Amino acid sequence: MEQLLIRGGIPLRGRVQVNGSKNACLPIIAATLLTNESTIVEGVPDLLDVRTMISVLKGLGASVDYQPERGLLRITPGDLPQTALPADLAGRMRASFLVLGPLLARKKEVQLPLPGGCAIGSRPVDLHLKGLAAMGACFNIAKGSVEGISGGLQGARIYLDFPSVGATENIIMAATLARGTTILENAATEPEIVDLANCLNSMGAQIVGAGTSRIRIEGVPQLGGTRHVVIPDRIEAGTLLLAGVITGGDVVVEHVLPDHLKSLLAKLTEAGAVVEEAGPSAVRAAAGDRITAVDLKTMPYPGFSTDLQPQFMALLALAEGTSMVIETVFENRFRHVEGLNSMGAQIKVEGRHAIVQGRPSLTGAPVAAPDLRGAAALLLAALAAEGETKLYGVHHLWRGHSRLEERLGSLGARIEFVSEEPEQALNIGSHSG
Ligand code: UD1
Repeated sequence: MEQLLIRGGIPLRGRVQVNGSKNACLPIIAATLLTNESTIVEGVPDLLDVRTMISVLKGLGASVDYQPERGLLRITPGDLPQTALPADLAGRMRASFLVLGPLLARKKEVQLPLPGGCAIGSRPVDLHLKGLAAMGACFNIAKGSVEGISGGLQGARIYLDFPSVGATENIIMAATLARGTTILENAATEPEIVDLANCLNSMGAQIVGAGTSRIRIEGVPQLGGTRHVVIPDRIEAGTLLLAGVITGGDVVVEHVLPDHLKSLLAKLTEAGAVVEEAGPSAVRAAAGDRITAVDLKTMPYPGFSTDLQPQFMALLALAEGTSMVIETVFENRFRHVEGLNSMGAQIKVEGRHAIVQGRPSLTGAPVAAPDLRGAAALLLAALAAEGETKLYGVHHLWRGHSRLEERLGSLGARIEFVSEEPEQALNIGSHSG
């Protein structure tokens, strides 16, 4: 059983590079299906999720050349002989559903397994389907899979009931090749949407307004290949900054866009950390005198990201006073609480609210990662805890972070990767994320 052995209590100090954004990369990889030409994507992080997305594209008949050590990906979709995705691939990662829009737009038919429930809530796809149906697609849902056809998509006015990131991405991608104009209202405004739109525009699309809640897309007859560098990963940057603060250290993250970190930096400052921009693409965070309790509510961008809530909760578990954390984006994103509590945290969950009573210290313990961001939260808690933590379910971490242990090690962390025989391993379950 694979695990990380973390010896806590060492203040992390130094400078560390942030990788390209996972959540920008995945839709951009899907978007390359909109042309038969080659697209080169640079700054691609070496992650399990990226590799899954590559397998999805290969499954559809695209030719892919991936050089993980250089962060370089060349995708040539060609004619895309396949429009049906096998269940095992789609089941591994919800983001595989992002091929829906591109396939419908380019091939006029698609068959995908529904992503279904997952560990952080039901995560339906109704908004994706409603948006594409408004553009003339017809869907048939049976036996856990969705079949879509279109006689050629038509631009439409679409209002999203909720600014879903994935639905915004699927609709934008489909609209680039639709006839006429699509206007998407209450769209998600995340930086990853802007990066996708920039990539699509460099492929010949006509998208304006990405990054605002109203996006206008003029359909074009075809797109061509391009070369695109993905934006830095704001969630990884935040996780590394929090690693510095939670351990009482001082960390500078490099290769970041400080604007994307505003909500996190505001909360860190409110909690008493010292935060400053350390150049045009670097940010520093240090622990300051003491960390005090703050209330936190997750919101769509530019609000506080749900993807940093578990990691920030780990910090609040060690703050002076009682904090309230409200999760508004996902219905079940407190699965890291069990692990934090077994390290001595005092956190009570009631529905979408968590009440965190700060403790002076945490103690290392065997814990199981429940999902990707939950794994990062437990890792941060372990770095700050007294004694040794065994973190199981390490694959969750690898879904979103490349060589994180190594990079934290360069800041002084003592983390060892261990692969135990199953009979030696503690009986702790891990869950899919
Ligand atoms: C993306 C991110 C994920 C992040 C999330 C919210 C990627 C690969 N993943 O996920 O890391 O946590 O945004 O910032 O970019 N919903 C519906 N119907 C739909 C679609 C979504 O009800 O058709 C609901 C979901 O159940 C959830 C909420 O909307 O409660 C947010 O989901 P969404 O913004 O779509 O997240 P993802 O795109 O799946």
